[in-house]
Amino acid sequence: MIPTLTWTPEGVRFIDQTRLPLEESYVLATTYDEVADVIVTMVVRGAPAIGVSAAYGVALGAIRSKAESAERFAPEFEKICARLAGTRPTAVNLFWAIDRMKALFAKLLAANATLVQVQEKILAEANAMYDEDIAACKAMGAFGAELLPDEGGVLTHCNAGALATCGYGTALGVIRAAVERGKRIHVYADETRPFLQGARLTAWELMADGIPTTVICDNMAASLMRQGKIQAVVVGADRIAANGDTANKIGTYNVAILAREHGIPFYVAAPWSTIDLATATGDAIPIEERPAREVTHHAGTQLTPNGVGICNPAFDVTPAKYIASIITERGALRAPYTESLKEMEMVS
Ligand code: MRU
Repeated sequence: MIPTLTWTPEGVRFIDQTRLPLEESYVLATTYDEVADVIVTMVVRGAPAIGVSAAYGVALGAIRSKAESAERFAPEFEKICARLAGTRPTAVNLFWAIDRMKALFAKLLAANATLVQVQEKILAEANAMYDEDIAACKAMGAFGAELLPDEGGVLTHCNAGALATCGYGTALGVIRAAVERGKRIHVYADETRPFLQGARLTAWELMADGIPTTVICDNMAASLMRQGKIQAVVVGADRIAANGDTANKIGTYNVAILAREHGIPFYVAAPWSTIDLATATGDAIPIEERPAREVTHHAGTQLTPNGVGICNPAFDVTPAKYIASIITERGALRAPYTESLKEMEMVS
């Protein structure tokens, strides 16, 4: 399995996703501050992976604390959580993981736990989140595999794979599960400008699994759909609002519109930790603006003239009306999502 992030006694070890696929190297974050940097610089990326990384960041902060008691650690705990929460604004998994740690810490304080107990429990919670994430990917893979054709082309955008989770992947988990069940899937991976998660990461991890994959430039999808090469689209998500509107990598919205025009089902696969019932619609989802340099330069080479205006939103919002199903570990939901999401939240 691809070691996206691994807890070690020295700290959290991340595969460096800024260097793949040409170099397989690792970064060891030994403090919570280093974990925050690793998230900002996208050494680790992808909503579920960011959430679990932040959880381990909180664990590192607790373990490295020199406070005399759990109570004295409280202000430091707040500072650690604030630093990690300030890294990337769109993926709700980050805030979900930090809120889960805050709830645990409050419970431990109320029970007069010692700092050592707090350290142990917080690390155990991060480990639990790690295991739950892989289990969720496997479960949504099983639900999603049913929806894919027995044979044909499946387009994906960005990287919602093992590298974006603790393992197996969300959208790529659905594809993996379909292939494991004997479906003959050919993946078309959008290159995903400007960070090239599709060309670099999706292609790398699918090739490692021997799943037939073709990388296409982002502007080629319409033409391939028209030629009948794409039978389904499956993407991940960074935040799903209560009405089903879905924030995912910039360019996902384009793909959804193209899929609708060509009568191709467009699926979103995400764990329940990506669902944000407190946000009513996609309009309220904060969209991260990334540094202009990601657009102006590629691998250190300048592509654009000095001083030109640059816009670099990392995500867009696909309105719920384009989504054929939201595939989660609890089941594959159908529209109207306001109802199906609420119902699933209540029964689970
Ligand atoms: O900017 P990134 O690479 O973190 O964006 C990642 C995506 O948009 C993924 O599709 C999403 O986080 C789902 S990952 C399972």
